Amino acid sequence: MNSLTITRPDDWHLHLRDGDMLAAVVPDTARQFARAIVMPNLDPPVTTTEQAIAYRRRILDVVPGELNFDPLMTLYLTDQTSPDEIGIDPCVHAVKWYPAGATTNSSRGVSDISRCYGVLEKMQQHDVPLLVHGEVTDADVDVFDREQVFIERYLVPVTERFPGLRVVLEHVTTSQGVEFVKASSDRIAATITAHHLLLNRNALFTGGLRPHHYCLPVLKREEHRRALVEAATSGNPKFFLGTDSAPHAKNAKESGCGCAGMYTALAAVELYTEVFEEAGALDRLEAFASFYGADFYGLPRNSDTITLQREAWRVPEVLSLDHAELVPFRAAEMMQWKLAG
Ligand code: DOR
Ligand code: ZN
Repeated sequence: MNSLTITRPDDWHLHLRDGDMLAAVVPDTARQFARAIVMPNLDPPVTTTEQAIAYRRRILDVVPGELNFDPLMTLYLTDQTSPDEIGIDPCVHAVKWYPAGATTNSSRGVSDISRCYGVLEKMQQHDVPLLVHGEVTDADVDVFDREQVFIERYLVPVTERFPGLRVVLEHVTTSQGVEFVKASSDRIAATITAHHLLLNRNALFTGGLRPHHYCLPVLKREEHRRALVEAATSGNPKFFLGTDSAPHAKNAKESGCGCAGMYTALAAVELYTEVFEEAGALDRLEAFASFYGADFYGLPRNSDTITLQREAWRVPEVLSLDHAELVPFRAAEMMQWKLAG
């Protein structure tokens, strides 16, 4: 097969940032995806509906004129979030739970989820999904075990307490995460990134320290990567595409304390296509990329299509922005598929 046409996909987990970075990255996503769930971890974070509406406008302002792109906004949950923020405006599609200190700009995240029960109750009533960064932050829990421990300590109790709440375990990275989602009700789903499907934790240390392969949750062992590929390509509607593309300037990645995140948005659909081809499951790419997420969020599936062609091309070594440089995922290496048009 040298050409593949599928319904236009959506990205159900994306970081777009703000200002110059926002303007630089939006076109890459908007070329491929019709919609994206936009993460609220700006500095300061998007904690109110009013801020989400204003951020949405700033995103739309930098969408190239010839493209249609619909940013789906999220609110950043804090210990102080009021239930009154829920259900005010249809542009807000979900609420994001960052455990305080778990990742980029999470210092204002949740320190004690029981303080948010009133908000979760209202979300359950209004059917607003809770998006979860599923990692504990305790220094005594090994960084590779943080997802599994989070599920046991926090996610299981919360989903039992709010059985009607829709929950997405974002960027699932472990076989334990996959098993939890599979065994849960239809209200519990997970997004899977391209980088966690393509790389295991050896990629952090290939020939030296590789800061561009550092993300959170951190890459895991090969057995976990295989479990993710199995889940993504299985045709189970609980698993759908979410890139977690998370741009940081080159100097912020190549640093004594480098930021977490990979910029995969440059060729996201092509990366997923490679994974599905390698797994012999190209016929299941469309549902994973374009159907299951929309179905979970109760939104219509897209009606137009994209076409991927088998074509070898080299990813640029670096992207030059106005005031910074950005190193894309797979910089200076080859891709096997290319989005047409
Ligand atoms: O690698 C990551 N980068 N993981 C996250 O959870 C946040 C993201 C970011 O915003 O940079
Ligand atoms: Zn993220």
